[in-house]
Order: sequence, then structure tokens, then C-alpha cells
Amino acid sequence: MGRALIGVALLVLPLVAACSTPLPDPQSAGAQIYQVRCAGCHPLYAPRLLTAAMWQVQVDRMQREMLRRAVNPLTEQEQYLVLSYLKAHAAETPELGAPASSASPAP
Ligand code: HEC
Repeated sequence: MGRALIGVALLVLPLVAACSTPLPDPQSAGAQIYQVRCAGCHPLYAPRLLTAAMWQVQVDRMQREMLRRAVNPLTEQEQYLVLSYLKAHAAETPELGAPASSASPAP
């Protein structure tokens, strides 16, 4: 009996994780903008995957990524709302192996 349960769990868990990672506080303005503006090039990263400081760096990088690909970058207000949202739900300690050294500012 235990085996069957484990089998079901193994089958269901990846599906749930892959389909739509439920975002925290999905109705907030930040979450809405995050879903609209940040899912165009890659799947959304869960806010808890990065720390607040890492989100700051990533969103800056993404602004440049958008400019490079001729996608409208975030407005100041959108950037503020997305960053506040991501930071509010960010990790205390990093979960995703982000290269700490790549955080150095561009020349
Ligand atoms: C114009 C396309 C584009 C948009 C729009 C975009 N990204 Fe990205 N993003 C990329 C590309 C390309 C990569 C992978 C290359 C890289 O990390 O520089 C990436 C990687 C990432 C990573 C992973 C970095 C890592 O170290 O693994 C995060 C986190 C991320 N994006 C967050 C965001 C957020 C937040 C937004 C919305 C503000 C966003 N992205 C919007 C193109 C985009």
C-alpha cells in the first residue's frame, strides 16, 4: 500500500511543479505585472528561488536583456512593483545556485 502511494506522489509532484507554479499573492499588482512582463522569454521563476538582493540584480539584467531584444523594458513604476513583489516573497538564503561573482556591475 505504501508503495502505491509513493508511486502516485512521484507521478503527481512533477506535474504540479511543472504546470503552473502557483505564485504567492497572485492578485497583487506586482504579481500581475510579473506574469505579463516576465514570462515572455522563459518560464517564471518562483520568487522564493532568489534573495531580495539577487532579484535586484536580475531585474536590472533583464531590463538590458529586453532592450537588447527590442522588447519594451519595464517602466519605472512596473519595475518598482515587480521588484517590491519579488523581494516581499524572496528567499532568506539562496536556493538557486546563482553565481555570486556575476553580480559585478557592467563597465
Ligand atoms: C526579452 C526576453 C526576456 C524577458 C522579457 C525577461 N527575461 Fe529573464 N532571462 C532572459 C534570458 C535570455 C535569460 C538567460 C540568460 C541570462 O541569464 O542572462 C534570462 C534569465 C533570467 C533569470 C535566471 C538567471 C540565472 O542566473 O539563472 C531570472 C531570475 C530572470 N531571467 C528573471 C526575469 C524577470 C524577473 C523578468 C521580468 C522583469 C524577466 N526575466 C524578463 C530573457 C528575458
